[in-house]
Amino acid sequence: MKVSTSILSCNPLSFADVLEKLSNSETDYIHIDVMDGQFVPNISFGQDFISCIKKATKKPLDVHLMVENMDFHKIDSFINAGSDILTIHTETSKHLHRNLEYIKSKGIKCGVAINPATHESAIENVIDLVDLVLIMTVNPGFGGQKFISSQLQKISNVKNMIDGKSVEISVDGGINCDTAKLCKDAGASICVSGSYIINHENMNDAIQSLKDI
Ligand code: DX5
Ligand code: ZN
Repeated sequence: MKVSTSILSCNPLSFADVLEKLSNSETDYIHIDVMDGQFVPNISFGQDFISCIKKATKKPLDVHLMVENMDFHKIDSFINAGSDILTIHTETSKHLHRNLEYIKSKGIKCGVAINPATHESAIENVIDLVDLVLIMTVNPGFGGQKFISSQLQKISNVKNMIDGKSVEISVDGGINCDTAKLCKDAGASICVSGSYIINHENMNDAIQSLKDI
């Protein structure tokens, strides 16, 4: 499994230290959860924060936008901030296809995220446009929640939908070694993990344990 470490659960007073450790770790990506207080109840990081992280690490930034009313203006601001992968939710775009095409046209990787209650048919008509599908294995908004095992069937269904094309399946929420193994067996190739890695006494050991699955 490739690993994308979410810094959502990190103590803000420790950001610099955690970022340095992650920069020297085996993590494949740094996952940044942007929450607007509308699509999800929580408010987290914005564009300026991402710009600062970008300057402080060479790791690719995997930016997960939980932001209502997605449009070109918002997309541009997150690309300019330094996103390497930009993922938007199927539930937040009136014009999902157009927004994903726009991200692709800017030369970065694009992803579509899907909530636990949303059927995978919602992404069928954009699967050819994306580099990754982010399957939420918790309801978005908070770190440290319990993995929703009904999403395993969705992972297999999306794997079938991809049908050999080069689209990665990433899973996000409640990921530890046990749940990552279930997701990998169902067809996932990237796992996003926050509290399991951040709360581990040695973050790189936690990252390695997920990569070894
Ligand atoms: C949840 C976020 C996740 C979160 C995962 O809305 O999208 O990326 O940080 O945290 P854990 O791994 O603690 O469930
Ligand atoms: Zn996330």
